[in-house]
Amino acid sequence: MAPSIHIDPARHAAPVDPRIYSGFTEHMGRCIYGGLYDPDNAHGLADANGYRTDVLQALKDLNIPIVRYPGGNFVSSYRWQDGIGPKELRPRRPELAWLTEESNQFGTDEFIQWARLLGAEPYICLNMGTGTLEDALAWLEYCNSSANTHYANLRRKNGHPEPYGVKYWSLGNEVWGPWQVGQQTSQDYAKKAFQWAKALRLLDPSIKLISCGETGFADWDRVTLKTLAPVVDFHSIHLYTVSEGNHDVNVMGPAAAEKGIEITKSLIELAKIEGNLTKDITVCFDEWNVWDPVRAPGEKGAEEHYDLSDALAVASWLNVFVRKADVVKIACIAQSVNVISPIITSPTGLFKQTTYYPLQLFASLMQGTALSLHVTSSPNDDDAYTGATVPPFVAALTAHTPPAARLTKWIDASGVLSPDGKEVRVAIVNRHQTKDFSVPIEFGPAANVASNVTVHQVWSADLRDRNGFEGEKVKSVESTLDDWQGMYEVKAHSFQVLVFT
Ligand code: AHR
Repeated sequence: MAPSIHIDPARHAAPVDPRIYSGFTEHMGRCIYGGLYDPDNAHGLADANGYRTDVLQALKDLNIPIVRYPGGNFVSSYRWQDGIGPKELRPRRPELAWLTEESNQFGTDEFIQWARLLGAEPYICLNMGTGTLEDALAWLEYCNSSANTHYANLRRKNGHPEPYGVKYWSLGNEVWGPWQVGQQTSQDYAKKAFQWAKALRLLDPSIKLISCGETGFADWDRVTLKTLAPVVDFHSIHLYTVSEGNHDVNVMGPAAAEKGIEITKSLIELAKIEGNLTKDITVCFDEWNVWDPVRAPGEKGAEEHYDLSDALAVASWLNVFVRKADVVKIACIAQSVNVISPIITSPTGLFKQTTYYPLQLFASLMQGTALSLHVTSSPNDDDAYTGATVPPFVAALTAHTPPAARLTKWIDASGVLSPDGKEVRVAIVNRHQTKDFSVPIEFGPAANVASNVTVHQVWSADLRDRNGFEGEKVKSVESTLDDWQGMYEVKAHSFQVLVFT
């Protein structure tokens, strides 16, 4: 069967939550120091507080609604109290996640101020490795309390009279992972996180709590959800896809995330049935991206230099989140600056990676209401992906990757009705390396669309093309289709958003 896309603008799947376009900044590599924060300001790119203004602008253009901080693995041995107060008194500490040293010159107050400049909500991940419940309560009190109590007063003393009102708090990071300081079994974690959640809510009932999940398709997710469903608002999952130098593996990888989300949705339903709960629990996919830790090791700062193939993989990831808009309400690309990031800085400037452009197009155009699309692109007729292995991710994150990743299609799409209800927007990735496809795009009988079509396309002749400080080979280019006849020629290895008005 040849590829085709059928859209009925009356078939609303779910509202697209703008929070699926969120970010993540960790004390890792050159994300904070040498990335978004440059207090020495030798080249005049930082503001009076040391925040790089070019970085802020590039991220503002991605409309990031939430930023997660301070890790990641980093948080599992982080003492948040080291990062507040006069900078000359802040201790340097050994850093156990990436085996470096932490100067603590950037901490909670600097992060929250930076997030506000970005126009984003701060999201704090709690230390469930070396940290205690007392530390967590103190952090919450410092950030959110308006009482006349020690940590609220400490915040005032440090120059911040008003509570920050940090809404999102997660109960640890990848606590299941052998690389984690304070790794635990699912049962032990669930028991502990349940107690933490109760206490945190006593201090601030308005917060949203996020449980630490695994991939969504791990037994850890089932066990922890069963215990934590009564006390959390979101269940987090993490996944990275990796190419191993193989384009097909690269672009098909996000199918595993889609399967993980479907399984998590069922696990949430099961936990709600078992616990007789009627509350909402949704997915916070708070780490996702293309990351090959062999070519960009974490200990060396994980600076991936992405190519067009990676941009197409990122576009496929974002299609997954739009298609799963009913249950994915937050997703944070990991990460936002230098470390596996859409932007790379030097002391004198930055460049936008290939992956920046699909992110920007999704965040600006793929908002509103997700539509249920019918996409045919039968593997049998379209040179099915025949990769011998399912995409492996970071070793432990990949162990249970479901075989669905093998069954996926060359044409990958998602669609929305714009927030004003006037435009249908369709994001299409042609993941085939060499084959163009003529794709009929058909609308439902009641649809009154498709007279004007604007195309925003990310394409380049060579899949291995990358951007750099010397220039951008891969970026989005806008054009219009004058005479829309219901058929779109989708170039091999291309991504585009078609806007129908
Ligand atoms: O984003 C890089 C790392 O990947 C994070 O610190 C950790 O949570 C994950 O394993």
